[in-house]
Amino acid sequence: MRRPIIAGNWKMNNTKAQTYALLNDLVPLVADAEAEVVICVPYTSIWAAGEAIKGTNIHLGAENVHWAEKGAFTGEISADMLLEQGVEYVIIGHSERRQYFGETDETVNKRVLTALAKGLKPIICVGETLEEREGGKVEEVLVRQTTEALKGVDKDQLDKIVIAYEPVWAIGTGKTATAQDANDTIAIIRNTIAKLYCPKCAEEKVRIQYGGSMNPKNAKELMAMPQIDGGLIGGASLKAVDFSQVVKYNG
Ligand code: PGA
Repeated sequence: MRRPIIAGNWKMNNTKAQTYALLNDLVPLVADAEAEVVICVPYTSIWAAGEAIKGTNIHLGAENVHWAEKGAFTGEISADMLLEQGVEYVIIGHSERRQYFGETDETVNKRVLTALAKGLKPIICVGETLEEREGGKVEEVLVRQTTEALKGVDKDQLDKIVIAYEPVWAIGTGKTATAQDANDTIAIIRNTIAKLYCPKCAEEKVRIQYGGSMNPKNAKELMAMPQIDGGLIGGASLKAVDFSQVVKYNG
């Protein structure tokens, strides 16, 4: 059984004070959640978030990690720095990183390998743009992104990995993939993992989330689909009540 995992992606939102306020509200609202709950927060909020969720069922995540141990990489952050703050999960290859900050399949792979080697659990984002979708390239793009991201990853590391399928056209736009469409596209990703490793590994070890305008209204329907193991939630993770309703998607 793949345990559902709902992760918030705060992006570049929330100061330290706002972090405490939001988590103060969120902690009791999700205390009895069945799904695994993760919040991925900006670097400057990691310490505060860690304090606010100490002893709760909420897991701490960051939004990126560099592949090098340390050194001259201005503006980047290392795995050791994150681990020292109690970080467990890390988003890698978000489409905003790919689109605005030059992330490629290759840099995504390097970050994934370092994260795993250090003991961080990567949430690897894949997804097609509108242009790629309209050009009939969904399968090609997802097979490539998945295969490249997982290069060099061992079979026994697969249960540390979460994949987030986020169609770029659905992020922050209010447009969601239909549940059926998200399910079928996630099946392509799972099938790719089955071919790269083994069918059982893909079926039992890897959790695949949907992301893109997931909210309290559509979460239940999306989560009812057999291939969808969770969600990566942007906008709706910034409000405690909304996020808690996604986390407890069955009401
Ligand atoms: P959204 O963002 O929920 O605001 O669409 C999701 C994401 O980018 O991870």
